[in-house]
Amino acid sequence: MKNLVSMKDLSVDQIMAILKQAQAFREGAHSTVKNSYTMANLFFEPSTRTKMSFEMAERNLQVGVIPFEAGFSSTLKGETLYDTVKVLEAIGLDALVIRHEENSFFEQLVGKVKPAIINGGDGTGNHPTQSLLDIYTIWQEFGTLQDIVVTIVGDIAHSRVARSNADALTRLGATVHLVCPPEWQGEFDTFNEFDKVIESSDVVMMLRVQHERHDSNMTFSKEDYHQAFGLTVERERKMKDKAIIMHPAPFNRDVEIASELVECDRSRIFKQMENGVYIRMAIIEIILKGRE
Ligand code: NCD
Repeated sequence: MKNLVSMKDLSVDQIMAILKQAQAFREGAHSTVKNSYTMANLFFEPSTRTKMSFEMAERNLQVGVIPFEAGFSSTLKGETLYDTVKVLEAIGLDALVIRHEENSFFEQLVGKVKPAIINGGDGTGNHPTQSLLDIYTIWQEFGTLQDIVVTIVGDIAHSRVARSNADALTRLGATVHLVCPPEWQGEFDTFNEFDKVIESSDVVMMLRVQHERHDSNMTFSKEDYHQAFGLTVERERKMKDKAIIMHPAPFNRDVEIASELVECDRSRIFKQMENGVYIRMAIIEIILKGRE
């Protein structure tokens, strides 16, 4: 693995190798990377979890991290993403984590620049590291992905998390149901009624409504959405005994998920964040070792 830009580039074997490496790090394994490397995290869209957990993963692996602030960078002077990356290549960075609002931004970089490119989220396209940490969390919970029923609910059309997970989880043998209002269906086959699938789900994965990717004239009622597509306390009661709740976060309490469910026994939301550090360590370890 030279770069990680989309789940579609990873075989089932490669996905499982990443989960196992993450598990080894969770159990205290040390990095076996020989050389010293330097990375930077270029976030052109807001981020708390993804950016901080990449930084934590890099520090845990003793990788040097050079700070980059998109809001104070020369992109504001008209420098293109490609040219910014060429600058960082010249300065000597080995790998870059990039989040950008443009779908497939990585196509202008992969194969054309020396630093490894890790996609931290491209527009509505892909979010492979989130998908891997989600898959790891499900695997940790159930010991398998085969025949696990995962219901993803929310703004499917605009969600790079749904897109990455739907593809990868299906290839791993899980059954994926997508639930959303008809106008957010995108290219997928979806259910419009959450109640039809909740009782048979092992995992209920809620998504944030991606207002920043919507037409600003769209009207939206938080209360109506919560009743129709939110994980309400009443719906949670219909879940299977061992079923879990996930959310990539940031979550909006009482919009897509009832506030009291965020930290309930079924919730794995903070476990996902914890797992994100190990998954990102695993990805960086595998990519850097590939450069030795
Ligand atoms: C997601 C993202 O950025 O796509 N968040 C994350 O990385 N944990 C989901 C979202 O923004 O709703």
